[in-house]
Amino acid sequence: MAIERTVSIIKPDAVAKNKIGEILARYEKSGLRIVATKMLRLSWEQAEAIYGVHRGKSFYNDLIAFMTSGPVVVSVLEGEGAVMKQRDVMGMTDPRLAEPGTVRADFADSVNRNAAHGSDSIDNAKYEINCLFAPGEICGRWS
Ligand code: RTP
Ligand code: MG
Repeated sequence: MAIERTVSIIKPDAVAKNKIGEILARYEKSGLRIVATKMLRLSWEQAEAIYGVHRGKSFYNDLIAFMTSGPVVVSVLEGEGAVMKQRDVMGMTDPRLAEPGTVRADFADSVNRNAAHGSDSIDNAKYEINCLFAPGEICGRWS
């Protein structure tokens, strides 16, 4: 399988619960490597850039408000099949449906406050990396 990069965002609810380290550890234990990470407060524009595909849906305004409500930890994860691997570790969008042991099953309270974001395709990962990181902030570790 190819070496890919994907974006993880630890959302404001999980940061507020002090779960940054536990969540990143799960990604590391799955074999993914952190090649960039930082804490920041997303601007409204950055949140809209990442979630623009959902514009017009009933939950959109609440989603953008939530994502900008407090600090988040954004990371680039690198590894074999990184996009799907991160999403497997993260679990399903609704924590009630997420497999036990996944990030969302263990740390999320609801579909609207669900602890983690992950890119859903290689192309979207590239787009999100470009939105959130300067090239010099990423330190490739695979080669
Ligand atoms: P994410 O983008 O945050 O990683 O989540 P995802 O791929 O699992 O789910 P997606 O369909 O992309 O939805 C983005 C975020 O919107 C909120 N949402 N609320 N029915 C609802 O109220 C609803 N559906 C989605 C969630 O916070 C979800 O993570
Ligand atoms: Mg998504």
